[in-house]
Amino acid sequence: MAMVASTVEALLSQERLIEPSAEFRERAVVNDPSIYEEASRDFEGFWAKIAEEFVTWFRKWDKVLEWTPPQPGTQPPWFKWFIGGRLNACYNCVDRHVRNWRRTKAAIIWEGEPGDERVLTYQDLHREVQKFANVLKSLGVKKGDRVTIYLPMIPELPIAMLACARIGAIHNVVFGGFSAEALRDRINDSQSKILITADGGWRRGNIVPLKRNSDEALKECPTIEKVIVVHRGVMDATHVPMVNGRDLWWHRLMEKAKLECPCEEMDSEDPLYILYTSGTTGKPKGQLHVTGGYLVGVAMTTKWVFDLKDEDIYWCTADIGWVTGHSYIVYGPLANGATVVMYEGAPDYPDRDRFWAIVEKYRVNIFYTSPTAIRTFMKWGEEYPRRHDLSSIRLLGTVGEPINPEAWLWYWEHIGEKRCPVVDTWWQTETGCIIISPLPGITTLKPGSATKPLPGFFAEVVDENGNPCSEGSQGYLILTKPWPSMSRTLWGDPERYIQTYWTRFPGFYFTGDASVKDKDGYFWLLGRVDDVINVSGHRISTMELESILVEHPAVAEAAVIGRKDEIKGQVPVGFVTIREGFTQNEQLVQELKEYVVKRIGPIARPADIFFTSELPKTRSGKIMRRLLRDIAEGRALGDTTTLTDPEVIQHLKQMYEERYGE
Ligand code: PRX
Repeated sequence: MAMVASTVEALLSQERLIEPSAEFRERAVVNDPSIYEEASRDFEGFWAKIAEEFVTWFRKWDKVLEWTPPQPGTQPPWFKWFIGGRLNACYNCVDRHVRNWRRTKAAIIWEGEPGDERVLTYQDLHREVQKFANVLKSLGVKKGDRVTIYLPMIPELPIAMLACARIGAIHNVVFGGFSAEALRDRINDSQSKILITADGGWRRGNIVPLKRNSDEALKECPTIEKVIVVHRGVMDATHVPMVNGRDLWWHRLMEKAKLECPCEEMDSEDPLYILYTSGTTGKPKGQLHVTGGYLVGVAMTTKWVFDLKDEDIYWCTADIGWVTGHSYIVYGPLANGATVVMYEGAPDYPDRDRFWAIVEKYRVNIFYTSPTAIRTFMKWGEEYPRRHDLSSIRLLGTVGEPINPEAWLWYWEHIGEKRCPVVDTWWQTETGCIIISPLPGITTLKPGSATKPLPGFFAEVVDENGNPCSEGSQGYLILTKPWPSMSRTLWGDPERYIQTYWTRFPGFYFTGDASVKDKDGYFWLLGRVDDVINVSGHRISTMELESILVEHPAVAEAAVIGRKDEIKGQVPVGFVTIREGFTQNEQLVQELKEYVVKRIGPIARPADIFFTSELPKTRSGKIMRRLLRDIAEGRALGDTTTLTDPEVIQHLKQMYEERYGE
């Protein structure tokens, strides 16, 4: 299991309860607890009501849900929501708001890292999105075509996504921190026709070389026909190498673009986007989200979980390259006609108070970030938030990894000034929207717990055999009923979708997370149970790292595990055996770390690499990663009797403890 029993016991023994204030409760978007009961009594009826309330349909659906348990040998779709419904996601996020007073409301308040600013009203967004949709059409993009987007956090990123949605193209956003090779693999797997990138972006005063990476990637991307390049201005346009006939400037195309572009009528189940995420094997998985259910899920959860009001300024600090940005910067908030803050750069540039300066400047009301960021702020100290007036904030959120109670309480005290509820939101790229989270006007909070599934969502903690665990016992987190925004399949690999999520507990969705429920039925999330590690809220597959390491000429074998890290949650640590003729030295350690960075990106850089003459293996030759994890997590070693040479693991344990002093 993910956590030692004593740690779980310590977690659950905390008695601290935090109630929403009477004032908050009274004004909250949702404050009637009977909503939970209502949703479980008639689950489809509940979702039908939500779908009507939150989404504008060109044609109403005929049926709410149809599903068959995904089973080996069967093909998608296994789940269909709002069958027969017709809609357009861009229409819902943009067009319907320009038909009322929100036309002049700020949709996006953007700040670049150097301090430049842009504000786009809904009307501005409407114009830019339509023009860019026409640009895409003029380049031959049609409904169902894939468009890869590799941009910094600039307004052109949501504009490009919405333009795709408008014409029915499927966007595939690749995080700007990914390397050329990661980009290449995602373009090729999705078979994209167009790549949208920029000269670069700013991060901590440095240039993120997006165009250079793109050029490198495109050496091996036969499906790409055109590259659209935004001039972010990190370099003079004349210095950006443009490939004749392939590369086109965004601004030049926009100058000529027609102003009006109608929205394509999409079916509820038509794909909206692909987003790649790490899985337990080397190959990233393209999660496929569809139009109707996804939009219903993200629109409702944005409003309810963040208690979103029309007058709020909302800021989610995630990068749009991750699902958090897709759902809670772009689709969820914009579907609600919200004002969203978007920031390009690092939290410590030019100083460690940048986030708080932004909160003060725009009077941010709702602030959503990650536990890693919170733990970093904690380490930096209170002096930075104290430099600024944070009194505009009324709600705080966190996502991406388990949050330890200390970090939760620090956030609540020093950022929320003990005034603001903290919503710890558990969900995944696969789930599309938040699943387990407080409703801030209803739920009594427990620091460190994501509390309970939202109305309309159903989760359970089960043992190996799928039986519900007793209170206080760790088990596997499963979702027991389908939900509208679930990923429908993996792009081009339906078998893997079944294998990963639907075979462990047939008929139920397996999350890959460990959890425990306490005496009040609150869920405490305990981390992953598979070969996925969570580094600063970013998912990384240890198998992917291993397969990269063994491609290095010096490496014979590799095993990678996650080591607990005070700030980042987990960091990758590699154990490698090297080939004859290579020398084990610091230089090789650095070389291997850089090798991983080049292949995936800086987020995957191993924190450490240990050389060993052998890896612990069973007699059948299987590497016993479980034992390596025992070492990394400071547990007593599990059963070592099946090992060919039990000495090996003892030696590794000793080496590890010498390094980390455990
Ligand atoms: O292990 C869980 C962790 O992040 C995983 C999902 O990662 P990803 O698909 O990249 O999406 C991250 C943003 C939604 C989950 O399987 N996780 C996410 N949120 C939490 C969490 N673990 C504990 N508490 C959370 N609030």
